[in-house]
Amino acid sequence: MSTPKNKIFLVSLVAALAGLLFGFDTGIISGALLFIKNSFPVSISMKEMIVGSVLVGAILGSFSSGRLTDRYGRRGIMLVIALLFILGTAIAALANSLHMILFGRIFIGIAIGIGSYTAPLYIAEAAPAERRGGLVTLNQLMITIGIFSSYCINYVFANIDGSWRWMFAIGIIPALLLGLGMLLLPESPRWLVKQKQIERARETLQYLRGNKNVEHEIADIQNSLKMKNASFKQIFTKWLRPVLLIGLFLGFLQQAVGINTIIYYAPTIFHMAGFKTASTSILATVGVGLLNVLATVFAVKYLDKIGRRPLLLAGLIGMGASLFFLSYAFHTQLHIGSLRWLTVASAFVYIISFAFSLGALLWVIVSEIFPLEFRGVAMSFVVATSWFWNLTVSTTFLSLLHKLGASETFVIYAVTCMIGFVISYLWVPETKGVTLEQIENNIRNGYSVRDIGIPRDAKRKPTIETEVSNV
Ligand code: BGC
Repeated sequence: MSTPKNKIFLVSLVAALAGLLFGFDTGIISGALLFIKNSFPVSISMKEMIVGSVLVGAILGSFSSGRLTDRYGRRGIMLVIALLFILGTAIAALANSLHMILFGRIFIGIAIGIGSYTAPLYIAEAAPAERRGGLVTLNQLMITIGIFSSYCINYVFANIDGSWRWMFAIGIIPALLLGLGMLLLPESPRWLVKQKQIERARETLQYLRGNKNVEHEIADIQNSLKMKNASFKQIFTKWLRPVLLIGLFLGFLQQAVGINTIIYYAPTIFHMAGFKTASTSILATVGVGLLNVLATVFAVKYLDKIGRRPLLLAGLIGMGASLFFLSYAFHTQLHIGSLRWLTVASAFVYIISFAFSLGALLWVIVSEIFPLEFRGVAMSFVVATSWFWNLTVSTTFLSLLHKLGASETFVIYAVTCMIGFVISYLWVPETKGVTLEQIENNIRNGYSVRDIGIPRDAKRKPTIETEVSNV
């Protein structure tokens, strides 16, 4: 249990409870909404506000999180997140008015937003380079487990009086675990070096790596820390701009492919496709949740072997193809009769393709590509914009369906996948197995953004073969 391999896994697992809460609290609302109306009269716009409140909180939280974690440390902020989750959950579960639910959900949103940035950052900074991708993806795995459990809980608690309170309240368990777990974990060694607490950083690294010689790691971090924390304005510096653009692009793409139209509205889509009873729609939705988890397990296992780019590109093809098929099925009314199963099949292919690619990769790549002094502020900016796109896509989906029709709406997301494929093919870097400090050196040495993941001794732009042989 105390081997370094297990230790870093446990450390990452505790931090990734923030991901579990992210998934749980975003997934639970679809079910809870159905039952809140039994306690309070809810207008459509109030429903949208309850769904949107978490997303608005997340935008606010993620935007401020860079500064907060740079100032107060990654671990300190993770403890604050746990408190916010506990508080927000208690307010929402005990609410005696819709406004209290809204209030509680905004708290939860702020915690989700800060956590969606801080947990992958903390894990990336604690992990050894060769396992970083897989461990950061653990956070995404926990997001998907959170979504899946919320679907199951929605199903189990459906039809119980006052069930929405229980649906919200269960979130308090992982929040408590996160708080207690973080009390036991060390601060990020990179943040400690940044605070000039070298001795503590050394001890932490020795603890995490199992007493190996960690001097080269300390030296690498120190090298990458020669300058002070960057300001928000500085992340737009000319030499960093291409890297920032790739981050912003991935943050946009992850949401613009329409993932949350499936995650938040799957029962609606299945209903439109011809499943007339609520239980078959919910069952198909649970299927989506389960496949999301399983394909993420695959990503966790193979991301550091296969690499980021092949998974990203394959995922975009899978998502694009399944969305075109979904659109075609709705267009030709294929969904009527037994062929509606083909609609379910394309939703399944879509979720699998998302989970092993963009789902996992946004968080991994964004935690890797920014030089340390810019990492806090740049990463939180990217994550905040991604939450903004989430809000935009999930609050326009129903009106698009209404105005354009299902077929045309899904074509929009499918075309986004195709454009995303071309841009990713041209510019997204491969960062597997390379230290964060090496990536930083490459950026500072003026490598093109596509090449910032070239390993230390590779001289030229790598081909597929050199990438493989360098790992
Ligand atoms: C995305 C969420 C999405 C989830 C689905 C995450 O990476 O940021 O918006 O709901 O994946 O698994």
